[in-house]
Amino acid sequence: MQDLMADTTIQTAPAVKPLQAAANGPCRERMLNALNLLPVDRPPVWLMRQAGRCLPEYRALREKHSFLELIRAPELACEVTLQPVRRFGFDAAILFSDILVVPEAMGQGFRFHDGGGVEMESAVRDMADIQGLRADSVAERLEYVAGALEMIKRELDGRAALLGFAGSPWTLANFMLEGGSAKRFGKAKELFKQDRRAYNLLAGKLTSAVTEFLQMQISRGVDAVQIFDSLGGELPAEDFEAASGQWMEMIVARLNGRAPVIVYSKGTRAWNALSKTGANVIGIDHGIALAEAERRLPRDMGLQGNLDPALLSEAEPATVAAETRRLLEQMRDRNGYIFNLGHGVPPSARMENLEALAAAIQNFA
Ligand code: CP3
Repeated sequence: MQDLMADTTIQTAPAVKPLQAAANGPCRERMLNALNLLPVDRPPVWLMRQAGRCLPEYRALREKHSFLELIRAPELACEVTLQPVRRFGFDAAILFSDILVVPEAMGQGFRFHDGGGVEMESAVRDMADIQGLRADSVAERLEYVAGALEMIKRELDGRAALLGFAGSPWTLANFMLEGGSAKRFGKAKELFKQDRRAYNLLAGKLTSAVTEFLQMQISRGVDAVQIFDSLGGELPAEDFEAASGQWMEMIVARLNGRAPVIVYSKGTRAWNALSKTGANVIGIDHGIALAEAERRLPRDMGLQGNLDPALLSEAEPATVAAETRRLLEQMRDRNGYIFNLGHGVPPSARMENLEALAAAIQNFA
């Protein structure tokens, strides 16, 4: 980790360009209302992975800086966070960072390959490795995130909502046990099945670390937080609650209503366990119709989702606009609906498709 930290000297920090107030209008208020299930003029929109490789202005910065430099230098993280909001007038900005900063703060560093994929310094293999992970003072070691949040908050100046995030204990445990990206995630499932004590120790430590990290983000002014349980769908429905749901439930309970929580659990169909998490909003992936998810969840939970991200790369702008309007029509008059994709923006997304999506929502009446 020391070595990784050592080469993060920043040569050129770009001046942060202002946002256009008029283009954004009452974005933050719209997002806050939807998070609280209050009526809105039209659903708010933001996209998972909106800041990143699909944007030419992000690619330009990446030519000069590594990904880790971008997330560790508050001024660069701020600039990348604002890029999609500036370009598309989204209602929310999401902190530019990564879910793997938490394992790193616990003692397991990581790096990214240029061709995609992530590699941790070493994999967590056994009880001794789990015992060696530090779950305390995580927020202190992630002080650079606090710095970025303060800067972003100041630049947004209330024009768009600011979202913080963290990975779920289950999803983080998968990356930590595999030692990075994997074609198939099997090791966390194996630990959960074969050594429940060790799995629970790991998930418990992650729960503490994630809670502390999210509390720090909330105290630095984020308007809501999203928990990315991107690997939730790897679990059979009957194991979901014990392996993932209950830990997210603990995190939500410990945040104690200080900020709304969005739980995005990709591919998960364990609806009862999802509603038991206590999240204000559930993120829905594109593997299920939004109307179907709506029927399965309680009326007092908000919904977020779920346009198929593949459309952004492969379809024509008119198709993207039509699909966007179809979802908006389905959710018309439903308080607590936030427009998003079913998963993250792919690096190959076409700018004209993102523009068509944003315009379809912004012109929806
Ligand atoms: O949503 C946003 O725009 C905010 C930033 C954000 C990133 N990663 C930036 C990023 C967020 C919220 C994440 C979450 C994340 N990170 C998840 C959960 C969400 C999901 O998509 O399922 C996961 C599983 C990770 C872990 C991760 N980060 C991997 C496996 C990789 C390598 C593969 C890949 O997609 O490139 C990353 C890298 C990463 N995180 C990039 C970005 C913009 C690409 C880095 C680059 O520029 O090369």
